[in-house]
Amino acid sequence: SPKIVTVKTAADVAEYTADVFAAAIKSNPKIVLGLATGSSPIGCYQRLVERSRGGEFSFAQATSFNLDEYIGLDADHPQSFRHFMQSQLFDLIDIRPSNTFVPDGKCPDVAKHVANYELKITEAGGIEIQLLGIGTNGHIAFNEPGSAADSRTREVSLTRQTIESNSRFFPSIADVPTTAITMGIGTILEAKQIVLIATGAGKAKAVAEAIEGPMTIDCPASLLQSHPNVIFVVDQAAGSGL
Ligand code: GLP
Repeated sequence: SPKIVTVKTAADVAEYTADVFAAAIKSNPKIVLGLATGSSPIGCYQRLVERSRGGEFSFAQATSFNLDEYIGLDADHPQSFRHFMQSQLFDLIDIRPSNTFVPDGKCPDVAKHVANYELKITEAGGIEIQLLGIGTNGHIAFNEPGSAADSRTREVSLTRQTIESNSRFFPSIADVPTTAITMGIGTILEAKQIVLIATGAGKAKAVAEAIEGPMTIDCPASLLQSHPNVIFVVDQAAGSGL
């Protein structure tokens, strides 16, 4: 069953998670990381940047795979997940650009691209530690409710709730892409370790359903209960429904 770490604030979530990732990178500099976007991981990335720049560890031999990307946004679009990763992490650390993988939202052939993305993860030796956020409806990456437990990297349609949640980053709701490429739940579950982070009262219901509810595709994060090495790191507000 999942390990649950409840800390006081969002800053404490960031600190705890950065400690877990720093320890993993130090014990294996050739680590394959699974990375996430959204507001939840920002504090963790800031701490990892500071600590690696301080000389504690290096990303020079690391490889990273991101969970997802909007379809239709260029890599340099301000709201693309590639742009987010460059500005929040990759441009600030010593990781090799060619070792950072994010699905390509402008790829001409999605089916071919997603098959190749899975192949690259396998060739890299699999993901050692995967960082995850959680959507207000329990989604992980862009696996919306109803996604199969054995789903693979693929094109998906976003729900109204996700489009509304994410519209805060766009000029208007009409600017939010309606489709995305996402690693599947089956893909995510193959990571050797998973760290899900959540902060704020808006996530309390999703967190409670994920941890204490039945394992059901209606709450994709609940499917993590079957994973042998998963940690939920939540602040008091996000853990208030537990
Ligand atoms: C998006 C991402 C998810 C992320 C979720 C929550 O939909 N695809 O990977 O977990 O948003 O985002 P936030 O951390 O900003 O609440």
